[in-house]
Amino acid sequence: MKLKQLDRLGMGVFPTPFEPMPRLQAELGGPKLFVKRDDLTGIALGGNKIRQLNYILVEARKKKADYVITTCGVQSNWSRQTAALAAKMGMKALLVLRTAQFKTKPKIYDGNILLDHILGADVKVIDMKISEDPTPILEQEAEKLRKKGHKPFVLGLAASTSPLATAAYAYAFLEMAEQARATGANLDAVFVASSAGPTQAGLILGAKIMRQSTKVIGVNVGAYPEERMRDVILRSSEGAAKLLETRARVTPDDIIINSDYAGKDYGISTEESVEALKLIARTEALIVDPVYTAKTVACMVGMIRAGEFRAGQNVCFVHTGGIPALFPYREEFQPGR
Ligand SMILES: Cc1ncc(COP(=O)(O)O)c(C=O)c1O
Repeated sequence: MKLKQLDRLGMGVFPTPFEPMPRLQAELGGPKLFVKRDDLTGIALGGNKIRQLNYILVEARKKKADYVITTCGVQSNWSRQTAALAAKMGMKALLVLRTAQFKTKPKIYDGNILLDHILGADVKVIDMKISEDPTPILEQEAEKLRKKGHKPFVLGLAASTSPLATAAYAYAFLEMAEQARATGANLDAVFVASSAGPTQAGLILGAKIMRQSTKVIGVNVGAYPEERMRDVILRSSEGAAKLLETRARVTPDDIIINSDYAGKDYGISTEESVEALKLIARTEALIVDPVYTAKTVACMVGMIRAGEFRAGQNVCFVHTGGIPALFPYREEFQPGR
């Protein structure tokens, strides 16, 4: 497959493993099950953002920035992975983190925010919902740093939905399809947690590039309405296709979003997600997180139980990481609950 190779930092461990899930498969019946281990991208407890930031942060390196400023929620995987790559690049990270689903500032650092601090990031927590826009605060912080003689590189909210983030997952689809083929499997469906949308967008674009009919089922984790997700997926995949110099295009009909497992809100567990988190741990020793990947496994399990896939089909869970966020949810998983 001739695809333009975009510049990347070359950090992390790729390709990530692609493994069968025989015990979960035996438990559920029906299709063959696989997992793509993007929880193992190799830096500071991994996750999908390591793949994406490998392309996005090339510009920071080119501009010789000494600070990267970004934003998300207090238990943000994006921010932790930005802080990790910044550390490896010899830059400082400044994270403006919104209280989001936790509503109050943390009394004690745990999970991702603890790792942010350990990784040497400057952390600023603000009372703000995940749907609100902190861009003006990022700009103010950048200005303060410029006045002190620093060269900040701002990764605003748009960075996480950018064509580069999407292109990273188009490459990931190619990587995964090749691994699947080596085991004799053609993927009929993949399940991925979808929030802002570029990870799913990239996987759909990758399937289009390879002319594979794989269904890429984006599991809505409740952060954004479906229309916004569809819009981001269309725009970012169009941008990524241009960057990759491919004629493949994602159309509205290619976008499958399942919102049935989102529950009440982003970051709020459901009965199904709690069950799925324990089920995949107890059959495959795979640890997933309550915010993204447990809802994704819940959707996959729910659809298999409903008979949506048959024996002989190949289904893959794309594990996008997020494991550090499990620990702040410890109360939900105590014995007897
Ligand atoms: C663990 C995990 N999975 C999936 C996603 C969703 O990625 P995207 O924002 O590309 O939809 C994120 C990021 O928000 C994440 O942290």
